[in-house]
Amino acid sequence: MATQRIGVIINGATGRMGTTQHMANLLAIAAEGGLPLRNGDRLVPELLLVGRDAGKLAALAGSACRWTTSLDEALAGPDQIYMDCAATGGRVARVRQAIAAGKHIHIEKPTAPTVEDAMSLARAAHARGLKHGVIQDKLHLPGFNKLQFVRDSGFLGRILSIRIDAGSWVFDGVTQPCQRPSWNYKKAEGGGLALDMMAHWRYMIDRLVAPVTAVCALMATAIPERIDEAGNRYTVDVEDTSHALLRLQGGAIGVITNSWATRVRRDDTMLVQIDGTLGSATAGRTRCFTQSAVNTPEAFFGPNRPGGMDFMAQWQEVPDTYPFTPPFRACWENFLRHVAEDAPYATTLVAGAKAVQLADLAYQSVAQNRWMDVPELSL
Ligand SMILES: NC(=O)c1ccc[n+]([C@@H]2O[C@H](COP(=O)([O-])OP(=O)(O)OC[C@H]3O[C@@H](n4cnc5c(N)ncnc54)[C@H](O)[C@@H]3O)[C@@H](O)[C@H]2O)c1
Repeated sequence: MATQRIGVIINGATGRMGTTQHMANLLAIAAEGGLPLRNGDRLVPELLLVGRDAGKLAALAGSACRWTTSLDEALAGPDQIYMDCAATGGRVARVRQAIAAGKHIHIEKPTAPTVEDAMSLARAAHARGLKHGVIQDKLHLPGFNKLQFVRDSGFLGRILSIRIDAGSWVFDGVTQPCQRPSWNYKKAEGGGLALDMMAHWRYMIDRLVAPVTAVCALMATAIPERIDEAGNRYTVDVEDTSHALLRLQGGAIGVITNSWATRVRRDDTMLVQIDGTLGSATAGRTRCFTQSAVNTPEAFFGPNRPGGMDFMAQWQEVPDTYPFTPPFRACWENFLRHVAEDAPYATTLVAGAKAVQLADLAYQSVAQNRWMDVPELSL
């Protein structure tokens, strides 16, 4: 039983994801004495924070982490893993640099603005013999994890459809400060709702039902002007509303309604419902409910029949039956084991590129006003 140490560069450490997810979970693993490996060793992550603001970095790092404002300097050092959780714009160039420096790559979604760029990163990392992965955290959330369990159990029978209803109201900065960084609304900086969220919908639909084979999308910019962090007015040049119809392998239908200009009157900001011949299941991020065929009410009543049926009460909650690992921690544990002991690993940069591919094809569908087939991707 030995202690192994592994250096992890976190570029974008001062950002929301960098601090609350990547740093927090890696420091938690270190504080517990490291991640237990198959051979009994413990793997302790040691963090090197990279960012542009020395003051913020020094304060964030404290005595627990090293830090630098120079990505070149970080990549020239001995740390083995590169995490890119800085703003999406510019990610391709930063990751290329990390691959050239021989670092294993574990990065935030979306991995690139186009499927070509995303696949070029996957191929470059593979060609250098580096381990590579993307954060695909949502199926580790308890609600969606239980939905996967329900689906895998066979409870749903033949799956007919999946419906994703997601989003909330993002303030425009006029009456209340905007709660998302302004880069999300600028194409040149990696913004756009479809690019951001299709990165999740693709793997969720592929694994919860079946691979996506075609997409037809409709997008809009509901709020065309916003106020940024510095109080300046700017023009939004990306979509903040993205709806899509999907064909899935085997014949099921997918529907995505996704908007940052909608108000929440549902169980959660993200809801996924799957309907099947033997039952249905619906989940938000934390809870999952089912209704079997034999418990399905007759809900198609005419106007002369009294209403008032409590549809919500007719569903049964899936209980918590096993311990829960925080989603980003689960992503890190899987990747660290993949690097340290070659453990099997699914969410590679090819999986990341598939997610970008769905966004890419949704944009093409809007531009060409037609259905787009989804071709297979491989290294
Ligand atoms: N997996 C998820 O569920 C999830 C959720 C939210 C965001 N994200 C992804 O994480 C990434 C960061 O999102 P966030 O919400 O933390 O954003 P954020 O704006 O809070 O943080 C971005 C960080 O990048 C830095 N940065 C900005 N522009 C930069 C540049 N040109 N070069 C280097 N650094 C730069 C900022 O200083 C900040 O530290 C994005 O790619 C986003 O798509 C993933």
